[in-house]
Amino acid sequence: MKSFALVAGARPNFVKIAPILRALEQDRAVKSLLIHTGQHYDENLSDIFFADLGIRGPDISLGVGSGSHAKQTAEVMVGMERVLVEAAQNGNPIDRLVVVGDVNSTMAAAVAAAKLNIPVAHVEAGLRSFDRTMPEEINRILTDVICDMLLVSEPAGVENLKREGHADEHIFLVGNVMIDTLLTQVERARARDTLERLSLEPHSYGVITLHRPSNVDRPEVLGPLVDVLVEVSSQLDLVFPIHPRTMARLEAFGLQATIGSAPRLRCIEPLGYLDFLCLTSQAKVIVTDSGGLQEESTALGVPCLTMRTNTERPITCTEGTSTLIGSSAGQLKAYLKQVLTGSYKSGTRPALWDGNASGRIARILGSC
Ligand code: UD1
Repeated sequence: MKSFALVAGARPNFVKIAPILRALEQDRAVKSLLIHTGQHYDENLSDIFFADLGIRGPDISLGVGSGSHAKQTAEVMVGMERVLVEAAQNGNPIDRLVVVGDVNSTMAAAVAAAKLNIPVAHVEAGLRSFDRTMPEEINRILTDVICDMLLVSEPAGVENLKREGHADEHIFLVGNVMIDTLLTQVERARARDTLERLSLEPHSYGVITLHRPSNVDRPEVLGPLVDVLVEVSSQLDLVFPIHPRTMARLEAFGLQATIGSAPRLRCIEPLGYLDFLCLTSQAKVIVTDSGGLQEESTALGVPCLTMRTNTERPITCTEGTSTLIGSSAGQLKAYLKQVLTGSYKSGTRPALWDGNASGRIARILGSC
């Protein structure tokens, strides 16, 4: 029997591991251990995702919590090393670690396992923004360099990995597991009463998410962004589920009063997976700096104005519904006008974003 350990730490990880775990559970020759690092710990960033997506509870919780990058990374490494060594000492050695995405937990867990000579598979390998000021870009590069199974969601990732010298036999274009989850859950999500609870009509509102350090950590950037959202909300109802990092910055920079002055800008707590998908799947437009949401909006065919100057997911712009608009108010207003007048581009769902990526991953894992 093969023994895999899957690691998840932060909100987007849970969406990615759900279908992989389900696919692995169908293989009787495979045993999987689920390790939650505790990078995200709030009910609405963690537990609710397990409940919404029917993920079984973690077998092991490291409970690392928040901290500086070095502290959080180090604590995940120490915890992972302990778990992997104990598993071997107890006669249940882990044959392979599976990590997903690009958060600190992803990279830290991969490093700990690789140093114990446990091979590591990376789901969502090869994505590159070519912007090393992003903590996620550092995590992506470091993770890929020590993984021998690189499971890729879009063709640009394959090109990036080849250019970095990875051999063809380590690279597998499998598609997008986040879209597996979306396609499984979207009908169930739409049946919820999320819109009624927020007094919204389908296809007549925008959904906002902002949490990247580059957008929210400096008052001179976040202040003007808030001004734009307030202004745009005079034309369109906006719903803004606020990530704790962003909420802390809004408070610290004294921006809450400005946000509160716009009656059509509804600021709410972060939502669980199903409520959020209910909102995004019926939105007129999504304005975001999230990586995952660029992909989800492409799969849903909803316009996505991405408040970044680069993306590690270029297919969402070339084939999908996303446009990079930076942080400028002028750009946001211009593209919003296109959306409201019906002249914004339409997109297609990329090849292999078909709901079967996790099945392909389970087959590759099972055969190695
Ligand atoms: C992390 C990921 C980011 C991902 C995002 C999804 C890294 C480097 N960043 O960013 O790639 O897009 O998750 O949400 O791994 N906090 C809480 N409750 C929690 C967790 C965090 O209040 O359950 C607060 C803490 O103040 C913490 C801050 O949010 O310091 C940032 O959390 P952290 O996990 O370090 O990064 P995110 O901004 O969530």
